[in-house]
Amino acid sequence: MMYKQEVIDFYNARTNYDNDATRNRAIALFDYATPFPGQSVLDVATGTGNIAIQAAKKVGASGSVIGIDIATELLKITQQKIQAENLSNVQLIEVDAEAYQPESNEFDAIYCSYAIVLFPNIPTILGSWYRCLKSGGFIAFTCSSEDSYLALSIVEACAKHGITLPNLHEPLGTPDRIQHVLTQAKFNQIEIHPQQMGTYLGLEKAQSRWNGQFWLHTDNPLRELKPEKIRQIKASYDDEIAALETEQGVWHEELIYYVVARKP
Ligand SMILES: C[S@@+](CC[C@H](N)C(=O)[O-])C[C@H]1O[C@@H](n2cnc3c(N)ncnc32)[C@H](O)[C@@H]1O
Repeated sequence: MMYKQEVIDFYNARTNYDNDATRNRAIALFDYATPFPGQSVLDVATGTGNIAIQAAKKVGASGSVIGIDIATELLKITQQKIQAENLSNVQLIEVDAEAYQPESNEFDAIYCSYAIVLFPNIPTILGSWYRCLKSGGFIAFTCSSEDSYLALSIVEACAKHGITLPNLHEPLGTPDRIQHVLTQAKFNQIEIHPQQMGTYLGLEKAQSRWNGQFWLHTDNPLRELKPEKIRQIKASYDDEIAALETEQGVWHEELIYYVVARKP
């Protein structure tokens, strides 16, 4: 429960979530899989609704879109956007994606942009998507390489102090793992499109990337640590990052996998 509340609080505080970058990186999923007019779409963890709204335009008045999320404040923003665009085919539901139980074979397409790793049990969520997808329908989601967002440096700094921090991006952090997890869940026609969105950061900026959503993990041992211990780990992290500095700065990888798979 503690974990879910942490996620809710984190995203409710991000009412400035929308900008060109967050919008573009989400709707880029439509480059790889697009619903047809008249189809029915689920947008899991819709947030500020960028995918849901784009999907609503694609499926048109004869189609329908359901957007689900647990962050009330983001859903309010989505509702305003839906009204401003005069869309009548989108419904928003405030629900934990892991508890949401739609009918079987209900959707032609399920999207989940920048959120799947936040679900503690990925095989289970894939199983539930498989169940509520129609045969021939697709799922389209993004995940990140296991070294994106300097994750490995963060994990390494913790390890130096005897703390095992699970890497949020590990379970879907390589094409092989993505392929394996999806095959286990019975999906086929699996496509994995890598997109490198990384940049070089100045040293201080890279060091400031210690915080953030990375820590939204069910088994985050850092929650229990005293501030003094956190300071020590942060100092090790700063050293790790300093060692990565080149003339161009510190490479901040954002290797995003755009994944599409189908239910046979
Ligand atoms: C990084 S945002 C992505 C939002 C949107 N899909 C996009 O790409 O712009 C992650 C979203 O996942 C939502 N989320 C996290 N865990 C969730 C859960 N268990 N059920 C529903 N939504 C969840 C958060 O509230 C947040 O809106």
